[in-house]
Amino acid sequence: MRGRLVGWLMCSCLAVGAGCQSSRGTVPRALSNQPTLSGLSEGQTIEVRHGAVVSVSPDASAVGRDVLVRGGNAVDAAVASAFALAVTWPEAGNIGGGGFMVVYAGKGAVPVVVDYRETAPAAAKADTFAAGRPTQHRLVGVPGTVRGLALAHEKFGKLPWKELVMPAVRLAKEGFELNKDVAEAINEYVAKPGDEANEMRRVLGKSGGGKWASGDRLVQAELAETLGRIAEEGPKAFYEGAIADAIVESLDEGLITRADLAGYRAKVREPIHGTFRGFDVYGPPPPSSGGICVVEMLNVLEYLNLRENERLSAKTLHLMIETMRRVFVDRAKFLGDADFMKIPAELTSKEYAAQIASQINPLRATASEDLATDIRLVKEGTQTTHFSVIDADGMAVSNTYTLEQRFGGRVMVRGKGFLLNNEMGDFNLQPGITDRQGKIGTAANQVAPGKRMLSSMTPVIVTKDGRVVMICGSPGGRTIINTVLCVVINRLEYHMSPRESVDAPRINMTWFPDKVTAEADMLKDHSATLEQLRNMGHYVDPKPARQGDAQSIFVESDGRIIGVADKRRGGGAAGY
Ligand code: DON
Repeated sequence: MRGRLVGWLMCSCLAVGAGCQSSRGTVPRALSNQPTLSGLSEGQTIEVRHGAVVSVSPDASAVGRDVLVRGGNAVDAAVASAFALAVTWPEAGNIGGGGFMVVYAGKGAVPVVVDYRETAPAAAKADTFAAGRPTQHRLVGVPGTVRGLALAHEKFGKLPWKELVMPAVRLAKEGFELNKDVAEAINEYVAKPGDEANEMRRVLGKSGGGKWASGDRLVQAELAETLGRIAEEGPKAFYEGAIADAIVESLDEGLITRADLAGYRAKVREPIHGTFRGFDVYGPPPPSSGGICVVEMLNVLEYLNLRENERLSAKTLHLMIETMRRVFVDRAKFLGDADFMKIPAELTSKEYAAQIASQINPLRATASEDLATDIRLVKEGTQTTHFSVIDADGMAVSNTYTLEQRFGGRVMVRGKGFLLNNEMGDFNLQPGITDRQGKIGTAANQVAPGKRMLSSMTPVIVTKDGRVVMICGSPGGRTIINTVLCVVINRLEYHMSPRESVDAPRINMTWFPDKVTAEADMLKDHSATLEQLRNMGHYVDPKPARQGDAQSIFVESDGRIIGVADKRRGGGAAGY
């Protein structure tokens, strides 16, 4: 029954008080009065009644699920899963990066966002990178993850901090079984040339050379030690003392100082709030562009009545592409860290969306050049990771965090077993210089000391009358916003099932480059549609590109929780 695992099946072994073997571990005896845990398999759907965690890593989802079963709430589970992902999904799960967590506390509370985006070190100025080609060591932003998770825990958590970090310590110390995706990713990235990756090669490379294979066990003793310190001493252990010293000392000609680390603070912010067809949509505010962009797009699409046409018709895809194109112009012009500049409030208003909608030609593509002639966008990496959590009281967490590129810049802190981000690359690094290869030099997102670089991460929570209906997000750089848009439209506009909403082929347009990328291989029955799009004036990339990895949770009106692990990169949904 691949793809559909239904919870609440009583396991006979519970009745005799023995541990109950799920496909991923053993339910402790103490839980023998609990409902059976659903098993795990790749790309699965689970249907449960109490709570669920869906992430790219089955082990990390199981860690969060176990926290829920022990009486932890959604934030407790999110903290535990985030630390676990730093062990089991090393290309993007992290303690050396940053991200955004949207928390809905349940019972009609206004959601909040924990912003733990990295900051520019004090020594970084607008022209610091103007000469171009900075080393990976200089691209490291001050990491936010540990303080972000601690802030979320301080504000909402129920279980002790140490209990939430320890599962990750155990996974690092005892090791975990590599699946094909993780094994291949490590093999590929340790093999790439470059001295900056020497420490990563020592730590993550297979001892004695050779390649990791699916089923091998990866033990990370130094990471276990680092996480153990964080478990015992809290976030200070990371931002001050030996770990902070090691970060600074690992960066040759790096910009980060001990003062930058000690001074880093995560922030609680109000989410961006929009409505779509009577649903409330909450996403992260600047320094992420995700919340504003997805709400702006939904507002425009609400005027365009997509449902008059089929979801994968050329007409619908055209209207979505033209909406994406225009919203990405606003992103480049106006968005950056709102603590450093003013962002026009009208971007998320219905009136402004009506104007945009009225400018879209329903039959012809607009050339991106015609919307603004002087700006091009920076190139971003393609690895980040998102997970979704809901608990039995309706508290929900939507969390996306990243090292920016896959394994960041492959810079590992010496002797401490964790990777650093290369997030400074998300700033507009060369002021005033724009070119057709992908640079952007506009002011909104230029470097300043302490400033947060603009992000596309878009963890969202959708509610209806105060009840969570959907939790979603994705990796994928700028494509994240469009991936989330596709899943939300599938569900809220086309009423697709949870599985179909995540599975359906996705499209992407980010203004520049002026081309549409699509999961065209999944659209094989729709070659006529692609041809129609081309006839409307769109350049549709002939190369199919897999887009995003939306590890999502949906809640049906009768309370059933549907966890949907996206099949694109494998993943695990765990619930009870
Ligand atoms: O914050 C951002 O938008 C980027 N640093 C995210 C990079 C990313 O998603 C790469 N991922 N798949």
